[in-house]
Amino acid sequence: MKTIDELLAEGVTGKRVFVRADLNVPLSGTTITDDGRIRAVQPTVEKLAAAGARVIVASHLGRPKGAPDPAFSLAPAAARLGELIGAGVAFATDTVGESARATVAALTDGKVAVIENLRFNPGETSKDDAERGAFADQLAELADVYVGDGFGAVHRKHASVFDLPARLPHAAGDLIATEVGVLKKLTEDVARPYAVVLGGSKVSDKLGVIDHLLERADRILIGGGMAYTFLKAQGHEVGNSLLQEDQIPAVLEYLKRAEEKGVEFVLPVDVVVSEQFPDLKTKAPSRHTTVPADAIPAGVMGLDNGPETNKLYASKLADAVTVFWNGPMGVFEHPDYAEGTRAVAQALVDSEGFSVVGGGDSAAAVRILGFDENAFGHISTGGGASLEYLEGKTLPGLAALED
Ligand code: 3PG
Repeated sequence: MKTIDELLAEGVTGKRVFVRADLNVPLSGTTITDDGRIRAVQPTVEKLAAAGARVIVASHLGRPKGAPDPAFSLAPAAARLGELIGAGVAFATDTVGESARATVAALTDGKVAVIENLRFNPGETSKDDAERGAFADQLAELADVYVGDGFGAVHRKHASVFDLPARLPHAAGDLIATEVGVLKKLTEDVARPYAVVLGGSKVSDKLGVIDHLLERADRILIGGGMAYTFLKAQGHEVGNSLLQEDQIPAVLEYLKRAEEKGVEFVLPVDVVVSEQFPDLKTKAPSRHTTVPADAIPAGVMGLDNGPETNKLYASKLADAVTVFWNGPMGVFEHPDYAEGTRAVAQALVDSEGFSVVGGGDSAAAVRILGFDENAFGHISTGGGASLEYLEGKTLPGLAALED
């Protein structure tokens, strides 16, 4: 993989450099609630601009349906990038149309432009190679060089991630280099004990990584919505909690394998429950109570780990030398259900081990809950991407930068 410094050494002055970033930031209306992913690509953009490149930043945001949709515009992200780099950032209101072509043509050396959400074009995510290729051809016309730095999207076989680098001289940006370096530490010669905390809503999203980690981790701590499928698999009632019945056989097999391999599988011992899902907009206080995880009454849903679980998880993380955490422990966006996530974040901050926070949601959670990012070993910008890397999969966006 060519590094950005090698690219700069070859000279980029006056060249149009297409930077595939991941500016898929959480928004509330047009307000960015966590700008971590924009700050993560800032060094690459600044390096290229300082070297006199004409920088074209491109990304997806959300999952629009292959057509323009104002709710998914990258305009707020472009404005934030401009604030961060302290310079004007031009914005093209389309991806490969008149606006993009004119905006790029007007760029001068050292200046930066952002083009509109790549997923406004159906070619970006198409499963059809020819359709994706045709969009990549159009994108390639905008630029002379490609820099891949959207780590959060490298697991997607999308036109701007996979097909475009094959059409232009290419290099990996600093963010991708850092992310891959950190994830290697979690896959090669891991310092032990190695503890993994997995949360989030769906077990089905985590099957691959659990399968892989059963061969590598010493402890796996489960939280979030996915915990209820594990509790149900152990024979407990879970009321109205999130449940993926169809995953119970897989979960049972994992629990059995963990026992055979001596991997400690840790599940919540108490949970915070409520009759209703809380209002995340108003964040109005909601009626809730804590119950043992093996006695969740009918009619309520589990929304967070309880205090005993928080203590237990902190103790399991205290002596870990390597920790990977993906997925919140509860509905952390609401203050009544943020303690489980906060407790895991605090345990990582207190631990002397190397801790990696992987994933859009957990990364956003630590920042939204007010933790200092520097207190963690590394906060990854990739959710699905870091999980698929840990699963040992070939990631299209990294493979495309290899040759
Ligand atoms: C993410 O948020 O994990 C990345 O930006 C990828 O987004 P996607 O899951 O919509 O492809």
